[in-house]
Amino acid sequence: MLETRDLTIRFGGHVAVNSVSCAFAPGTLTAIVGPNGAGKTTYFNLISGQLKASAGTVSLDGQPLSGLSPSARTHAGLGRAFQLTNLFPNLTVLENVRLAVQATREGAHRRGLNLWSIWSDHKALTERADQILADVALKSREHATVASLPHGDQRKLEVALLMALEPKVFMFDEPTAGMNAAEAPVILDLIRKLKQDKSKTILLVEHKMDVVRELADRIIVLHNGTLVADGEPAEVIASPVVQEAYLGIAKETAA
Ligand SMILES: Nc1ncnc2c1ncn2[C@@H]1O[C@H](COP(=O)(O)OP(=O)(O)O)[C@@H](O)[C@H]1O
Ligand SMILES: [Mg+2]
Repeated sequence: MLETRDLTIRFGGHVAVNSVSCAFAPGTLTAIVGPNGAGKTTYFNLISGQLKASAGTVSLDGQPLSGLSPSARTHAGLGRAFQLTNLFPNLTVLENVRLAVQATREGAHRRGLNLWSIWSDHKALTERADQILADVALKSREHATVASLPHGDQRKLEVALLMALEPKVFMFDEPTAGMNAAEAPVILDLIRKLKQDKSKTILLVEHKMDVVRELADRIIVLHNGTLVADGEPAEVIASPVVQEAYLGIAKETAA
């Protein structure tokens, strides 16, 4: 169970995330909605440790994460999509994913210099990396360098690396933003598949209400950094606060 308690951050006088207390259970997909600037990405950054909270705590399965570095939180099971700056731009797509798989399974490599075990590990890593690339429909690009990828493929690669980490908690922040009509369904399909694994906790920031309606078991709404609604999708979508926030989004998108 991922839990935030009174999680808060101030930037100067502005409270971007305001005392948000929320728990996210395994086997659930929670959509986080709210207008631009509501604090959704900042909330993720506080959970993943990219930003240091002004107040409040984050814990995973009872283990406090507050004060831990982002990489220590990743190690504890928090999966935040990689920024491309974390990648090796001159290595290929396959090499990057294989490195991520290897980092996750590094335990298997501490068996000493046994060539057979190194070879079989390498084979298993490559197979797993291949599988992930097939899942995100990037197989045809496996030998391209990361630097040469178009935007949509870079976003797919971010998701591929997140899969490679095999985290307990998946945090997707507008995962299909900037993807074309052919690319977005691949990622949504992947999230759909991920949902079937009842041990996983999924947090999804998503503007498209049809996607939210289909995928979410629960919706929370952030508004000016404050949690203003939390509940069943149908109920939350019908609530005045979401109608207002959603209209806000519609206006921004149209602008
Ligand atoms: N590093 C930062 N420094 C100052 N203000 C920030 C920083 N990050 C986010 N903010 C502000 O916090 C608010 C929430 O932003 P954000 O979390 O990106 O919103 P959302 O993801 O919901 O669109 C915005 O007003 C934004 O300008
Ligand atoms: Mg955002």
